[in-house]
Amino acid sequence: MESTDGAPATRLAPPAKRGTAALPPRLSDWLLALTIGVGFATGILSLISGAAWQWFIFAAHGMAGLWLAVLLWGKLRRVWPRVIQRHRWDHHTWASLATLGLVGGMLALGIGWAMGGDLTFLSYNLLAWHIILALALMAFVSLHMVTRAKPLRVRDVRGRRTLLRAGALALGGIALWPAQGVVNQTLHLPGATRRFTGSREAGSLQGNNFPTSSWVSDQPRPIDSLAWRLHVTGAVRRPQTLTMADLTATDTLTTTLDCTGGFYSVQQWHGTRIGRILAAAQPTEEARFVSFVSVTGYRWSLPLAEARQALLATQVGGETLAHSHGAPARLVAPGRRGFEWVKWIVEIRVLTAPDAGQMLTLYTSSFTPAGQGQ
Ligand code: HEM
Ligand code: HEM
Repeated sequence: MESTDGAPATRLAPPAKRGTAALPPRLSDWLLALTIGVGFATGILSLISGAAWQWFIFAAHGMAGLWLAVLLWGKLRRVWPRVIQRHRWDHHTWASLATLGLVGGMLALGIGWAMGGDLTFLSYNLLAWHIILALALMAFVSLHMVTRAKPLRVRDVRGRRTLLRAGALALGGIALWPAQGVVNQTLHLPGATRRFTGSREAGSLQGNNFPTSSWVSDQPRPIDSLAWRLHVTGAVRRPQTLTMADLTATDTLTTTLDCTGGFYSVQQWHGTRIGRILAAAQPTEEARFVSFVSVTGYRWSLPLAEARQALLATQVGGETLAHSHGAPARLVAPGRRGFEWVKWIVEIRVLTAPDAGQMLTLYTSSFTPAGQGQ
């Protein structure tokens, strides 16, 4: 004999009475899986999204997360009797409870951040904890699914009423997202002024006086700008070795640095357009990408056309760039997130293909001798 959702009846008491709006258990569980998957995928995508047209990634992220919260409510009503009766636990219940704790905490932190919450714990802000808990959640929900998930059957998704209920729940969750914006505006919460990426303003147009952050913990020694050399290499006809004195052009770009750590800062940057530097080096016909290499070994690349428009900045707001902000020269790439704006640049390398290895340098650059300040 089986319970309504296919679990062995011997382990279960009679199924909890469900509200009229409840979905079939298996459908509700697989919709939970879907919303977590979309939430996680859009969360990861959000890290490399900063251009205005990419706003929908953040909208999809918030909507998926709020829909998940609605579904979770229904699921809790279903499983709560089993959770509060200790004798009905088995050796997989702890993973279910850990999943519950993580998803609750993760959603509360994400929503708290979006509403302007400004708490810091162990030097990480709400957004950082949201991401940490989301990573842990993915591990625990996978374990929970391995031990509990049951396949979806045609009868779980069949029927007009089921589809209408699922649609109504989805719409309800999705509608919470704009509603959250209205609450922010009406109550004048700090979240109302955040950028579409969720980032908050900090130190705009005040020279070097804006927050410092580095991917992981690159901590190179200050570079003597007189001894500094910039090498332009790769798919170019005329490789270059430039000194600070060669960078005489004063191009200006007013644009926003938006850090995945949760702040943004509008600044006026001065320096030399990458297009000028490349024009002197003469990229070959095969050139497609330009990689910017830091003294720490960290590197990131842009498509050739986009790179030409970017700036090799040596000043911010009329001040010489501070060491912590990447002196003598850093990349300023409008529409890209802060971690892509490579600091302490020593090489510009023209490539004929995408640089798959650059992802690895995200994790290794802090362990190179230069990254550790030797
Ligand atoms: C945020 C995500 C989730 C949370 C917080 C959660 C939480 C829980 C909790 C607390 C229980 C009751 C304790 C237990 O029986 O172990 C449970 C049971 C269960 N969960 Fe989940 N779960 C989640 C996602 C999923 C997913 C994605 C699936 C499958 C696709 C799933 C399938 C099940 C099944 C089959 C049971 C057994 C109870 C029943 O048959 O109704 N859960 N879950
Ligand atoms: C299981 C996966 C995840 C879920 C369900 C989820 C859900 C949420 C929710 C509900 C919010 C509040 C949105 C709002 O009220 O407007 C939020 C905010 C946010 N989450 Fe996630 N999240 C997940 C994972 C991640 C990951 C992995 C990242 C990044 C690596 C991330 C980055 C963000 C950011 C940047 C915000 C702030 C957006 C804003 O203020 O509009 N999330 N998340």
